[in-house]
Amino acid sequence: MEKVWFIHNTKFGNSEKIANELAEKLKSNFEVEVGSAKEVDLKAIGNDKPIALVLAARLVAFQIDAGIRKFLKKLTNTLAEPIPKVAVFYTHASPWADKKKKQMEKALKKATCIGEICPEYLEVRMQKIEGPAEEGYEPKVDEFAIKLTSFIQS
Ligand SMILES: Cc1cc2nc3c(=O)[nH]c(=O)nc-3n(C[C@H](O)[C@H](O)[C@H](O)COP(=O)(O)O)c2cc1C
Repeated sequence: MEKVWFIHNTKFGNSEKIANELAEKLKSNFEVEVGSAKEVDLKAIGNDKPIALVLAARLVAFQIDAGIRKFLKKLTNTLAEPIPKVAVFYTHASPWADKKKKQMEKALKKATCIGEICPEYLEVRMQKIEGPAEEGYEPKVDEFAIKLTSFIQS
């Protein structure tokens, strides 16, 4: 089975929870692993030769979490071969606007450690900054898991 890595940089546990939920849904098609941007061994990711990387991007002070962008830079410096596919999901507390993902899209374009970028994304709003996620968010995760699976398999 091909491997998919999920990376989060959670503070309150919400983006980690969503990463785990997505990973669980992809488990029947891929080997999955969820890790923290601060703790994961970058070399281990390289050795796994994953087919895809899924990044959890939190909105922090009107920016995409610097920790996840830093992770992408470090990964670029570590990997010998790029990871063929990448996708992102966003967590945030204020109302969503598409322009909020621009900074992440720029970071992805710059990163030579990844190949194709998934045109689909997931965004989940938190009820408060420390969570939990808005009520009824689960079907969005289901839907994204299906789109993610076909993107990775395409
Ligand atoms: C210091 C701080 C700043 C934040 N700034 C924003 C923001 O500008 N826009 C927004 O939508 N959410 C903002 N949030 C909410 C976070 O996006 C939300 O807490 C996070 O996605 C939850 O993920 P986690 O539980 O994995 O840490 C902020 C949260 C913190 C702690």
